[in-house]
Amino acid sequence: MDKNGTYFLALKQIARHANSAKPLKKALTLIARRTSQAMKATGCSILLLNPKKEHLFILAAFGLSDRYLRKGALNVYKSIPDIINGEITTVRVSSGNNHTQYPEAAELENIHTIIGLPLFQEGEFIGELRLYTSDERQISTIDKEFLSAVSNLIVLTIEKSELNNLLAQSEKTGKPKQVKLIDIAAATGSVSRTSGFSHPSEDEFAKLLDFYRIEWLYEPKSFPLAWEGKKITEMFTPDFYLPELDLYIELTTLRQKLITEKNRKIRKIRELHPEIHIKLLNKSDYYKLLAKYGYGPLGGSKVEGINKVLFSHTQIQRRVISLAKRISQDYQDRNLVLVGVLKGVICFISDLMQHISIPVNVEFMAISYYGTDKEQAVKITKDLDASIAGRDVLMVEDIVDTGMTLNYLLNHLYAHNPASLKVCALLDKRIRRLVDIPIDYIGFEIPDEFIVGYGLDYHGEYRNLPFIGVLNPEIF
Ligand code: IMP
Ligand code: MG
Repeated sequence: MDKNGTYFLALKQIARHANSAKPLKKALTLIARRTSQAMKATGCSILLLNPKKEHLFILAAFGLSDRYLRKGALNVYKSIPDIINGEITTVRVSSGNNHTQYPEAAELENIHTIIGLPLFQEGEFIGELRLYTSDERQISTIDKEFLSAVSNLIVLTIEKSELNNLLAQSEKTGKPKQVKLIDIAAATGSVSRTSGFSHPSEDEFAKLLDFYRIEWLYEPKSFPLAWEGKKITEMFTPDFYLPELDLYIELTTLRQKLITEKNRKIRKIRELHPEIHIKLLNKSDYYKLLAKYGYGPLGGSKVEGINKVLFSHTQIQRRVISLAKRISQDYQDRNLVLVGVLKGVICFISDLMQHISIPVNVEFMAISYYGTDKEQAVKITKDLDASIAGRDVLMVEDIVDTGMTLNYLLNHLYAHNPASLKVCALLDKRIRRLVDIPIDYIGFEIPDEFIVGYGLDYHGEYRNLPFIGVLNPEIF
């Protein structure tokens, strides 16, 4: 297909994403992805100007690593100035180029050219669209026309979302609506894509991903596994693909015999396509995952108490002190803010801060949990009290399990333009990770067992234990 055709097809889909009922970030991530593909770029980001108009923060992105996304806030004045003046600008990345604020990060990411163009809303600069390529790129008139059409669609998408928020607010406050364009429920509700699954477990899993705002596609791709001559004799279609994480997930609640067959296929797929990331969630993994939220066959289980002590009070204290020492050294003469997520973190953060020898501020957040109320998506139920803009932030977590909570929270914090953002977690249940987030300070790595104590709970209980213990192993 020629360029005209490629761009036309891409614009068709981008317009559909722009006019979908998806939450803003989801819609923009899909647009970033489609734009990146059409341009044959390695990545794309959509940046917005913060309310004070000093920094650009990433609202949505595709194809960029976490490391790159978390590289720091972009100062709008130091950023590519021509873009703000309304020009499509191509920047070649090199350390001597003072328009690139993070040349090392870009080099690590193998970014050679950054193409940037402004987003204008009624003549006012509100953000940027950026494309990243690994090759040296010159842009043609038709590239420019395509990108400028995309940027207009992005602004419309943002405008639509703002409008919906306004409508939803006036609905809540009971004030009369000024505008009556679209059905509010349809516009603000999350996407319902529950039909078409071949198994109820897939439906539940999709709901869980939706809750944590993780974009997913159902069975988007099949991989050939065996051939006879040119004919494909065996294929494998993983259940889910999570584009932002570049991860395929195969969910299986089948009997052991069939799992062995699936394992064989997954081994084969890994051999033939080493570049793809795929994870198998078998029946017990899946039930454990659901049980954590009080769902599934194990969800309502009664427990008989603690089966064994994993870490004693003394062991925990020793480890916490050594983490606090490292943190105090690493953040010497800096502006540290500890951000803890209630409630699990209470014991850890209170012990940790007492051993940190530099001045710190402490902030708390709370978020809704999957399965509580009839919430469609994770919500912040208690936000930060003070601004973290320009501060060094250390997110303190009790335990990182699938990583979905942390992923959501880091995105939220990053949008507040901290000077830096790192993570300290007391416990790391790495084996269950779905969203792979780098953790800077780890207390202990733990096996796949449900643990309680030292702030951690099961159905609200056991938080007051001074040690960390494993709960009834027959269930978890
Ligand atoms: P994630 O989003 O799956 O990483 O889950 C993180 C949250 O789940 C933690 O902050 C805990 O509140 C909870 N959690 C995960 N594993 C355990 C556990 O073994 N015991 C108690 N709570 C857990
Ligand atoms: Mg927690």
